[in-house]
Parts: sequence; C-alpha cells; structure tokens
Amino acid sequence: MANLLEVNNLSISFTQYVQGLNRHDLKVISDLTIDVNESEIVAILGSSGSGKSLLAHSILGILPYNSHVKGEIKFRGNVLDQKLKEELRGKEICLIPQSVNFLDPLMKVSEQAIGECKNEKEHDTKKIKQREIFEKYGLDESVDDLYPFELSGGMARKVLLSTALINDPMLLIADEPTPGLDAKSVQETIEDIKKLKENGKGVLLITHEIDVALKTADRIAIFYSGYVIEINKVENFRNSENLLHPYTKVLIDALPRNGFNFAEGVQPLEVVKGCPYYENCPIRSDKCENNIPELVDHNGILIRCFNFEEVNDES
Ligand SMILES: Nc1ncnc2c1ncn2[C@@H]1O[C@H](COP(=O)(O)OP(=O)(O)OP(=O)(O)O)[C@@H](O)[C@H]1O
Ligand SMILES: [Mg+2]
Repeated sequence: MANLLEVNNLSISFTQYVQGLNRHDLKVISDLTIDVNESEIVAILGSSGSGKSLLAHSILGILPYNSHVKGEIKFRGNVLDQKLKEELRGKEICLIPQSVNFLDPLMKVSEQAIGECKNEKEHDTKKIKQREIFEKYGLDESVDDLYPFELSGGMARKVLLSTALINDPMLLIADEPTPGLDAKSVQETIEDIKKLKENGKGVLLITHEIDVALKTADRIAIFYSGYVIEINKVENFRNSENLLHPYTKVLIDALPRNGFNFAEGVQPLEVVKGCPYYENCPIRSDKCENNIPELVDHNGILIRCFNFEEVNDES
C-alpha cells in the first residue's frame, strides 16, 4: 500500500500576548507523527482541545496567521508547501470542516458544492453529481437555491459533506463529519467514506464518536494534549488488554459496553516537562516526570510510553 499522507514531527504553537506586552508561546501540537496509506482509513480520537482540527487545518494550509509550524507534511512523497497545499485543496485533498461557518454566506449552497469549474461542460457534469449526492442525503431540489442561513444545522453539515464528496478526493480529511446527523445519514456517511477507501483513496477521520471510528477505520490514532500517544489497529480496540498506552485503555474501558469505568483527571493545560499523561498515569515512574517518551514502533503499533506492558500479538 503506497503512502499517501505523511506528517513528520509536526509542532504548532501560537504567539499570545498576555496582559499587554508579555509574549507567550502556547504549544498546542507537539512532535506529531501520523500517516495515511492508499485504501486506508485512519481515525483520530482525542478529547476537545487536543489539536485535532489544527492538524487538519495545517494539512490544508488554512492555519490562523498567528500560528508557528515546524515539521514536515508530505503528500504522495512530495513535501506539501503552502503553494502545493493551495493547488491541491478542494481537488486532491478535501476537507469536511468541523464548523458550518466554513460555508460562504453569500453563495447558494448547490453552487458552493459544485465549486470552481474550468468550463460549462465540467459544471454540468458536477451539477448532476451534486444533485445525486444531495438527494442521497435527503436534500431535495428546493435546497439547491438556498443560502447557508436558511439551512438547519444538520442540513448545513450535509452540504459540507456533499461538497467534499463531489470532488472525489485522493485524500479526504473529515473533521467530525457526523454530529447532529440523523442515524440514516450517519450510516450513509460511513458508507461513503468506506467507498472512498475501496476506490484506493485515503481518509483521515477525526471523530469524538468511538463507534464511528470502530466501524470505519483500519487504524486509530489517539491524541492526548497535542501528542499522538498510540496508533493501533482497529481490531485491538475491541479489548483494552490489546492496547498499550494507559490512557487508551482508560478511554476504551469508559465505554458503556465496557462498564463505564471512568478515570479521574484532566489533560494538562500548560506544556509539561515530561510525559503529558504523567499526572494521571497509573504506571508512571520517576523517569516520566521530566522526560517525554518518543513515539516508538512496537510490532507495528506506535506507542509513546516508557512503561507500557508488551502484548503478544497472536493474530
Ligand atoms: N488561533 C488560535 N490561537 C490560539 N490558540 C488556538 C487557536 N486556535 C486553536 N487554538 C488552541 O489550540 C488547541 C487545539 O485546538 P483544536 O481546535 O485543534 O482542538 P480539537 O482537538 O479539534 O478540539 P474539538 O474536539 O473541540 O474540536 C485548543 O486549546 C485551542 O484553544
Ligand atoms: Mg476540532
């Protein structure tokens, strides 16, 4: 399977001015490494504020002006600089944004979904596709001429989803595509994402909904406080004993079907010197307080922990 997207050691920080002139660097993504292959869906799970949308925006080249970025992002082996990001955006790489504010308030939704076209012929072809996709998501012909303010939240989400799918991208980055959708549309979304994969495309699926990730993804990456702490195969998420990082185990044990075993603790808001999970970790050692573990490969599982227990992969 060829590599489609490669993010290597990405760090993102913001310059903030606290109480007037005091300059402060807020680091929100640290040394992040993740990849997506052709015919693969990689899901990202992580709590609010852990840097998931910023990762998506950095791949698309739409980070806010006050951000500082280090590291490297490659698409099909080529380094994605700002120029290439702009060339590929909306074509080979499409985003389903988390916020419906990405819709242009002054443009009819069908025209937004169709996007820029080289000529009338391309417009006509895309118009047919737009109608098909809208129809599938229950947006009838009367919706085509509406402006974003006339849509309900769920309808707006469906328009964003359709806009990305019409372009049949090589890489889809879906940032929370399902909240607010009815059960049928969630199922349609999952099917459409899987269809991209079957056609050789890659998908980075950002979601809070673990079940959507489990039903869709090949691998799941866990974000914690701006770090990727584990990337594991989806089948290992069925039983927390097959997971390596103590936070990943806690996350899965907290699912209703696993008995709602909640753990105390919150993510650090400030950058810490050592492992970001140190304060809450049941298996921490002295080393973890002042040293950040690297993301290492353990039998194909990527793990950022000094003290994880090895699992013998029987599959
Ligand atoms: N322009 C900005 N200036 C300063 N800090 C920012 C800016 N944009 C985002 N952040 C901070 O970066 C962190 C990560 O934000 P991000 O939106 O990527 O989180 P997320 O994981 O997508 O959260 P959610 O699950 O709620 O969507 C947050 O703490 C946020 O406050
Ligand atoms: Mg987000």
